[in-house]
Amino acid sequence: MLERAAELALLTSAAERLWQGEGGVAIVAGEAGIGKSTLLDSFLSALPDGSRVLRGWCDNLVAAHPLGPIREAVRGRPGSLSAGAGLDAALAGGDVPGVLAGLSESLAHGRPAVLVIEDLHWADDATLDVLAYLCRRRDRLRTLLVCSLRPEDSSSSALRRFLGGLPTRTPCGSTWRR
Ligand SMILES: Nc1ncnc2c1ncn2[C@@H]1O[C@H](COP(=O)(O)OP(=O)(O)OP(=O)(O)O)[C@@H](O)[C@H]1O
Ligand SMILES: [Mg+2]
Repeated sequence: MLERAAELALLTSAAERLWQGEGGVAIVAGEAGIGKSTLLDSFLSALPDGSRVLRGWCDNLVAAHPLGPIREAVRGRPGSLSAGAGLDAALAGGDVPGVLAGLSESLAHGRPAVLVIEDLHWADDATLDVLAYLCRRRDRLRTLLVCSLRPEDSSSSALRRFLGGLPTRTPCGSTWRR
């Protein structure tokens, strides 16, 4: 991978703080094809063995499935998150309060988690609500949230509101971090 050392170092240091108990948020922003997912692949593959990683993707759907990326992240890695029956049912039913309760319960126990949500510019509103909730509780839930997005497609009011509510940003190339 070429010319991504600074961004990779930022993500890695956020992960190191996570292992010490400090949550975080990182936004990997860049135009289509610039290498956001490749950067995230490198970051994730360098995490210690056994790291708790959840990764989901938003899709360019006319009618985005509410909570689709969260569902994919939770279900993608059996064993990464001890998702109880309550969380499964809440995800299946699009029950946002139930998802918040179930996710909080799961994240608060066990190892710290790296939650990667890709292509946030296509996120449904319910997904953004869940992520905003987790961000505000990132230390208590020992969660590092990492999102990729294309700035040129990020003009929706719901997404701007989500981004505006994030902690202070430190820009670094195409990556911002807390
Ligand atoms: N740092 C890099 N050095 C060399 N090749 C790269 C680098 N980053 C990405 N690529 C190549 O560029 C292509 C696009 O990368 P990638 O899918 O990561 O982009 P993206 O930003 O995630 O795009 P999208 O917005 O469509 O999701 C891939 O073929 C990948 O192998
Ligand atoms: Mg990508």
